[in-house]
Amino acid sequence: MAIKKKIQELRRKREEVQMGGGEAAIEKQVAMGKMTARHRIQTLLDEDSFQEYDMFVEHDARDFDMGKKVLAGDGVVIGTGSISGRPVCVFAQDFTVAGGSLGSMHSRKIVKIMDHALKLKMPLIGINDSGGARIQEGVNSLAGYGEIFFRNTISSGVIPQISVILGPCAGGAVYSPALTDFVFVVENISKMFITGPEVIKTVLGEEISMEDLGGARVHSEITGNAHFYAKTEKECFEQIKKLLTFIPWSNEQKALLVEPRLPRPEFKAGEVMPDDPKQPYDVRDVIKSVVDDSEFFEIQELWAANIVIGFGRMGGKTCGFVCNQPLVLAGVLDVDSSDKAARFIRYCDAFDIPIVTLVDLPGYLPGVDQEHAGVIRHGAKVLYAYSEATAPKITVILRKAYGGGYIAMGSRHLRADFVFAWPTAEIAVMGPEGAANIIFRKEITDAQNPEEMRQQKVQEYREKFANPYVAASRGYIDAVIEPDETRKRLLHALEVAAEKTVTMPRKKHGIPPF
Ligand code: HXC
Repeated sequence: MAIKKKIQELRRKREEVQMGGGEAAIEKQVAMGKMTARHRIQTLLDEDSFQEYDMFVEHDARDFDMGKKVLAGDGVVIGTGSISGRPVCVFAQDFTVAGGSLGSMHSRKIVKIMDHALKLKMPLIGINDSGGARIQEGVNSLAGYGEIFFRNTISSGVIPQISVILGPCAGGAVYSPALTDFVFVVENISKMFITGPEVIKTVLGEEISMEDLGGARVHSEITGNAHFYAKTEKECFEQIKKLLTFIPWSNEQKALLVEPRLPRPEFKAGEVMPDDPKQPYDVRDVIKSVVDDSEFFEIQELWAANIVIGFGRMGGKTCGFVCNQPLVLAGVLDVDSSDKAARFIRYCDAFDIPIVTLVDLPGYLPGVDQEHAGVIRHGAKVLYAYSEATAPKITVILRKAYGGGYIAMGSRHLRADFVFAWPTAEIAVMGPEGAANIIFRKEITDAQNPEEMRQQKVQEYREKFANPYVAASRGYIDAVIEPDETRKRLLHALEVAAEKTVTMPRKKHGIPPF
């Protein structure tokens, strides 16, 4: 009998904690279109798989009347569970409890689950919904953030770290997601900023809404802080589950091997390239013509769209794709697209995911804005990331590969394992127009009809240099291939490069152009 009573008591205590900040606070949360912390976890994880820990943790703050406040679970839910049958660690901040603010015990719970994820080698998924450092707990809150940031950094490249922003993520709190691999945001719900609208109004006298300052669109389209954008929380959780099918559970494991499938027949590599070399096309059509089932999972789709990054499978195995997008700014490398590409290359390399690069770019974007925004420093990240990556690297030059762009985009010289070129490739130091104007300047100005002469010289240059055969004659590319041979060539190259090992010079670490 005594045990029954004890069990009843346990159940009552659990129910109390599960009520979070109480009915009114939960109603407010739901009215904002948000799920509660536990509902979120249940929706994300496999049914009945969630095991909660530290439910009865209490804060020990006493200042500002905190001694009288009971904060259920100290405003955060932590635990383990599974997604598609594979184990994950998760935490979800509970905004109904003191605004999900982070105090000392709250941070200790997060740190505990982070340590589990690292030790047990599984992904960490953090659901952020918080007013930031718990003001009443002062420096203890700051210490908590510091412990989290440290672990984010140490775990980086060892286990996947996923941040989901489902409410405010304010002040220094933003730096935990910023240190993780993938950030998910949801329309109208996610708000991320260092200084909020009130501070901006006080200090700068400017009025701005939270949405315009750091809403989901802002971080998906302008800042690049977010990697995935969803309309609803449910859609966001589906995106996370999908991402997890592509990535390894740790840097000691491979991604799931999936039954290989042929690309769908409507995607044909040979039909993508327009006749006119100035016409754009969608590089995603080329990706879909080579990946299994034509399934391409794009990352940061809305930001720096002049480069396309994401995962696809080749013969059942995950590959990372880094591809210039001729549809946007002719696929140039600029400050943002360089950052986007470089970071993804490093992600793939950290988890030994093969990198497939599709090249079609006129080079780095010229202009004062870009120069002053640091295109030298940012562009260098791409060179650094490719050079340093020891995962299999296969490159296909589809069309333009001029100047620095040719070198940067996974060239032989940065140690691509295999480089192929379509017959439409134009590999040269610069584009025909610019080149002809410089090397034939005298002939053009001296000609009776300079424009006619210019056109003639452009054509001459194009025929001589704007093709793949000069590079092929030097062995800089391994084969000129027909577009429809691309998948076969890639599959073979990936197979022979799969067990590649590379020895680098011993060093503590390099100094990338951060
Ligand atoms: C303590 C907090 C809190 C915080 C919210 N609450 N933020 N308590 N510390 N940081 C409490 C509120 O007092 C309130 O308690 C409950 O949470 C809900 O908050 P509301 O303001 O009623 O909600 P809402 O109107 O939706 O506004 C949400 C909000 C706002 C925009 C997040 O609360 C806000 O601006 N909070 C402060 C954000 C901020 O400046 N944080 C930065 C802190 S400094 P009751 O009891 O009334 O329900 C920081 C530095 C970290 O984070 C540095 C690390 C390196």
